[in-house]
Amino acid sequence: MAKLSSPTGTKSVSRWINQVSALALRAVRTVTQEAGHGKAEVEIKPNAQTLRQYNTNTTGDDLLKDLSGEIQGKVIVTTGVTLGSLGGTFVQTIAKAQPAVLILAGRNLDKAQATADAIKTAHPNIDVRKVQLDLGSFAAVREAAATINSWTDMPHIDVLVNNAGIMGTDFKLTVDGYEEQFASNHLGHFLFTNLIMDKLLASKAPRVVGISSEAHRLSPIRWSDYNFSDGESYDRWQAYGQSKTANILMCLALADRLGASHGLTAFSLHPGVIATKLVEHFDFTVALPEMTALDKSLGNIIWDEIPWKTPERGVATHIYAAFEPSLKGYNGEYLQDSRISDPYTDTVRPWATSRVEADRLWKLSEKLVGQEFSY
Ligand SMILES: NC(=O)c1ccc[n+]([C@@H]2O[C@H](COP(=O)([O-])OP(=O)(O)OC[C@H]3O[C@@H](n4cnc5c(N)ncnc54)[C@H](OP(=O)(O)O)[C@@H]3O)[C@@H](O)[C@H]2O)c1
Repeated sequence: MAKLSSPTGTKSVSRWINQVSALALRAVRTVTQEAGHGKAEVEIKPNAQTLRQYNTNTTGDDLLKDLSGEIQGKVIVTTGVTLGSLGGTFVQTIAKAQPAVLILAGRNLDKAQATADAIKTAHPNIDVRKVQLDLGSFAAVREAAATINSWTDMPHIDVLVNNAGIMGTDFKLTVDGYEEQFASNHLGHFLFTNLIMDKLLASKAPRVVGISSEAHRLSPIRWSDYNFSDGESYDRWQAYGQSKTANILMCLALADRLGASHGLTAFSLHPGVIATKLVEHFDFTVALPEMTALDKSLGNIIWDEIPWKTPERGVATHIYAAFEPSLKGYNGEYLQDSRISDPYTDTVRPWATSRVEADRLWKLSEKLVGQEFSY
């Protein structure tokens, strides 16, 4: 069983070494293939060294030093913005770079107000707006999108960060009849994103960010049983894994459908492991062994120690994904530690990076939300 320790980031040096080794290995592979066999047998991604280099210890404030100019004046929508959560820390951090409008989409308006108050106190010039958004109800999602679309003084949205989420909850069907983690983490965001798409596409460089997780390793999309037989075969960790796989696939599908035609970029990411209230609802002594058992059955690495990050480090990849301009050439990628993930050395499962799975999920999601979005 994994040992819990305080969020100190003790593995940072070895992870950095791993990262450097991964880049070196990638360069070696490229050279070997070019020199040896002419045709590459595996797809080699463009060299990530052309991007600015950050690491697992990079904080949101560190990134502001490079990206403030990209944030200033932008209109940004973020879901799940409760103080102390990653979304809350993200909006408070980017507020320091003077965006034009911060739209806080939260299911509890009092909590969104508390975040808005904190931002307004520190940065009175920013236009901070709240919208009530319960991702677990399609009717509520439609209402939130209609509110945003009705703001005629805000004709475009530059960045949408689909951050809100729940993890490892007991089995529940939403009012629309779908397993709650799949519905709240994916279907709600799918509908919300597409309903405000006209405003996104009115931006010069629209970007969508999906907050996924390394936990996507726990399950592909369960095509014939996404609802876990209405609870009979429910596994809270497989359900979380399925929803986080969906977050990655949705960004890949957005990049494919709207990248070349409309200049939209979309990136998903793993923020790291951060002590937030995501885990507050369950008993760790039960939930963690359950996850470990699933990881063992899948043949995954079992951590000796949880590599905790502080929230300030946890939101760095949010900021990188949302604002790093040179990511434009890497549309649809899955990021971590403020860099593109390496499927050879990082936890990146093929079921989350398959274009066929991405297209299938788009079509299934259209069916489940009851509306087609053809781009
Ligand atoms: N923390 C980690 O270690 C970790 C690791 C990997 C990925 N992530 C991902 O990071 C994202 C943020 O998580 P967090 O750690 O910041 O968790 P958190 O502290 O629990 O925050 C989650 C946020 O989502 C909101 N939310 C939950 N259900 C919602 C719904 N149905 N409709 C609208 N908003 C809803 C919450 O609102 P309320 O306050 O009203 O509940 C809260 O603002 C999630 O997508 C999570 O899967 C986190």
